[in-house]
Amino acid sequence: MARSSFYVTTPIYYVNAAPHLGHAYTTIAADVLARHHRQRGDDVFFLTGTDEHGEPVKLAAEREGVTPGELADRNYERFQALAPQLGASNDFFVRTSDPRHVAKVQEVLTRVKDNGHAYEGVYEGWYCPRCADFKTDREIAEGNTCPIHKIPLTREHEHNWFFRLSAFAEPLERLFAERPDFVQPRVRYNEALSFIQGGLQDVSLTRRGLDWGVPVPWDPGQVFYVWWDALLNYYTALSFAHEGEDLTERFWPASYQLVGKDILKFHTIYWPALLMAADLPVPDHVFVHGFLLMDGEKMSKSLGNVLDPFAVIDRFGSDALRYYLMRDVSFGQDGSVSAGAFEERYERELANDYGNLASRTLAMVGRYRDGRAPDVPHDPALDADFEDLATRVAELLDRAEVTQALEEIWVRVRRLNRYVEERAPWKLAKDEAAAGELDVVLASLAEGLRVLTVLLQPWLPATSAKLLAALGTPDDALQAAQLGARRIGVVAPIEPLFPKQPTEPAAA
Ligand code: MSP
Repeated sequence: MARSSFYVTTPIYYVNAAPHLGHAYTTIAADVLARHHRQRGDDVFFLTGTDEHGEPVKLAAEREGVTPGELADRNYERFQALAPQLGASNDFFVRTSDPRHVAKVQEVLTRVKDNGHAYEGVYEGWYCPRCADFKTDREIAEGNTCPIHKIPLTREHEHNWFFRLSAFAEPLERLFAERPDFVQPRVRYNEALSFIQGGLQDVSLTRRGLDWGVPVPWDPGQVFYVWWDALLNYYTALSFAHEGEDLTERFWPASYQLVGKDILKFHTIYWPALLMAADLPVPDHVFVHGFLLMDGEKMSKSLGNVLDPFAVIDRFGSDALRYYLMRDVSFGQDGSVSAGAFEERYERELANDYGNLASRTLAMVGRYRDGRAPDVPHDPALDADFEDLATRVAELLDRAEVTQALEEIWVRVRRLNRYVEERAPWKLAKDEAAAGELDVVLASLAEGLRVLTVLLQPWLPATSAKLLAALGTPDDALQAAQLGARRIGVVAPIEPLFPKQPTEPAAA
């Protein structure tokens, strides 16, 4: 069977600020999907990167007294470094200041104009420089302020080139009707659709008087409006990510594009309209996730430190952060995060449910069977819980349900813990006549643990590799996630996977 291709993207992050938990969140979710598809044997490409042009970056550079280019060079490195620190397996990191991106943006947007979708006109309206967004009447908060940044909007009067977005209302409605899963989850699909049905206005394609951006080839002195330049990264990067090889045919259109709810309009309306205008296929799915909320009051220094992704990783490891974010905030909805909730999940679920299960299992195989898992079939009592698990996880991840899929697996982690308690191998070990039964229990525990560890790999890649190595079964392909699919022989003891952490003294 031919391998399917799977292309997943995160938004490209503005280099006007340092990476924070919100950025880590999208990158981790995208990584879970990328890793899962690699487990399936798919041909995977995972892209992330930085958005370096436009007003948000120009304004931040002015505040810091450097050029936008200098600010971008300084900050992009922090985003590039974040991905591996999170355990993210991105195949490429794109920068919109890359001349190859710039050239491709010019090529595509010139085609959009040549196709008759651009015209010269005057823009008069409200604009948020932090969002780099021309706000429509429906998007303006009281007193002409930005509903997202709470700052006053500026009144813009500009002679620009326009993109004929209004002409795409019908094609977009058709797209939404034909592809009810184009935008997920459903509530975001409805939101985007009602935006379209509320009437689409044409939008600036270019900006005059801004010098930090991609120059408009047919009108020197203008640059492209940063959102078009930024959105196109998903497409342009494929043409230069691999030296000497164009991956566009292989991976475009993208399979899943993950974005936060604040940038829904750009990704579910502007983006598909632009692609249609450029005669390019639109992505399969845009998944819109919610916000990580932090109670303002609790953002004490110490709490802030603990929820700084870098600090959490230093102390607990990247797997713990990945697990917590994917588990605690249902992907697609808003959710609060806190140091307390993190520590509770770490203790109760990672250290106790899973870490202890692993240590106990390996220790008992060591103690009762000299470190060799008994070569007997697993206990059929576990079949009902494990039989369709891999398929169920794959089905959920086909809909980017990263929290639900993790829950399915965790239910079985708990099932295996109950199994240990029910069968009490330490009692069986005292009874010579129960040796056969003990063999079955130990084989089942080791095998169940192996299957769960294969399935958990996308969320807990470092832990999974360590534990599968200890079990002597490094194969983490999805096919291996069936009871009995691999044979465990000699196992090695391991250090606690999620060691108890001393309570950190409150930061001064
Ligand atoms: N540069 C644009 C995206 C261009 S994509 C063609 C941008 N950058 S951003 O750095 O401001 O935000 C990037 C992503 O991080 C967005 O999807 C945003 O929703 C996400 N998050 C930023 N803060 C967040 C939370 N507190 N919670 C979850 N994600 C949020 O927008």
